[in-house]
Amino acid sequence: MVSTSWRRIKEVLAGISAGTIVSVRGWVYRTRSSGNIVFMTLRDASGVIQVTIKKGNLPDPQFEAAKTALIESSVELSGEVKEDPRAPGGYEILARSVQVVNFAEPFPITKDQSPEFLLDQRHLWLRSRKLTAALKIRSTVVGAIHQFFRDRGFYEFDAPVLQPNQCEGGSTLFEVKYYQDKTYLSQSWQLYAEAGVFALEKIYNVGPTFRAEKSKTSRHLSEFWMAEMEAAWMDLHDITEIAKDEVRFVIGQVVEKNPDDLAVLERDIETLRKLSKAKYPTITYTEALEVLRTKAGMEVDWGKDLRTVEEDTIMKFFETPVVVTNYPLEIMAFYKPPDPKDPKTALCFDMLAPEAYGEIIGGSQRSTDIAQMSERLRQMGEKIENYQWYFDLRRYGSVPHAGYGLGVERLVAWICHAENIKDTIPFPRTLLRFRP
Ligand code: 4AD
Ligand code: MG
Repeated sequence: MVSTSWRRIKEVLAGISAGTIVSVRGWVYRTRSSGNIVFMTLRDASGVIQVTIKKGNLPDPQFEAAKTALIESSVELSGEVKEDPRAPGGYEILARSVQVVNFAEPFPITKDQSPEFLLDQRHLWLRSRKLTAALKIRSTVVGAIHQFFRDRGFYEFDAPVLQPNQCEGGSTLFEVKYYQDKTYLSQSWQLYAEAGVFALEKIYNVGPTFRAEKSKTSRHLSEFWMAEMEAAWMDLHDITEIAKDEVRFVIGQVVEKNPDDLAVLERDIETLRKLSKAKYPTITYTEALEVLRTKAGMEVDWGKDLRTVEEDTIMKFFETPVVVTNYPLEIMAFYKPPDPKDPKTALCFDMLAPEAYGEIIGGSQRSTDIAQMSERLRQMGEKIENYQWYFDLRRYGSVPHAGYGLGVERLVAWICHAENIKDTIPFPRTLLRFRP
């Protein structure tokens, strides 16, 4: 090799090294040859570049190796950077040396494959340009969430993944054998966070979350990542404003850091730029039903939860996310308290995303009434003994507190304009799949 100071393909495409010799390494994205010339497209994590390999410009054995290297072979090469308006990205490399690191076998993924086949081959399909772009955006999103909370004085706080209690209803718990006993995979960080706020006051977490969702939808995973926050001394209004700021901040970071990836995904960056600055409205559940009735002619009985079709219909009338508060108390989780101003509703909210992406955040103020929570748990068939530790938090210096959880994949799916939430996580787990 002429040099082992490797350049990222993106840097080469920026043009600064035009006319000089560079070394790059990556994987064969496309290749075709005719006689004494090989046209190869090389891919690394940062982009793809055209490489022209001419017999005579490099030792013969290297030329022959380059000619026989199939798609996804790994390659190290060096050559002269040349401006070429016909090349994708406007630059190409004229190879002077090519080392095939590993000759790939015929790649199993060819054109026009079914989604199920691509999921079977997920370990290889991760290399596709669209998935790579979505995963880079996911990385920005998670990094931005950490930054957002740390900048505001929140501490990162971890909860156990193995938990003896439900938080969001027993029907979606994953049971795990625990020595001679049994436990469950975390449905939410929340109940433990409610203990944490008495020590740290303002805390957050981004962590794996598990729900045995028994239906196949484009919005549900069995294993997903939730970004949650919990804070002492805060009420419903306080946390809805933080949630709006968080979503705007995260979108702004993606606009700033991932323009190329948004282009690969054909996502309009201007739409996102506006969303990073817009004001997001807050309405009540009752007002949401009004929107459905007056604007869409859809009657929903007061007291019923909003289904996907209703969420999507409401959001046809909004261009930004909307915070919907005060859902009917009856259909809410046991820890959500009644609103003293309207006790048949809870001090809770969901944030719905526009463009038919549905609920991205759920949260609430937390009940401090042990008797009320016990009664609701009893109705659900829960053992009250299991919740005594949680009730202790109301016995020793209880304070108003509130929090919410944001579905990382739901937010990434919306930002990427992905068709399915599975396109936002490396190895999706769903009702029908936990392999590879
Ligand atoms: O609305 P959820 O169930 O709220 C809670 O779990 C609260 N304990 C959070 C809290 O207050 N700390 O879930 C929160 C969010 C949803 O809005 C959704 O974005 C996402 O988590 N979510 C899922 N994402 C993918 N697949 C699933 N099966 C999901 N279930 C919830
Ligand atoms: Mg919810």
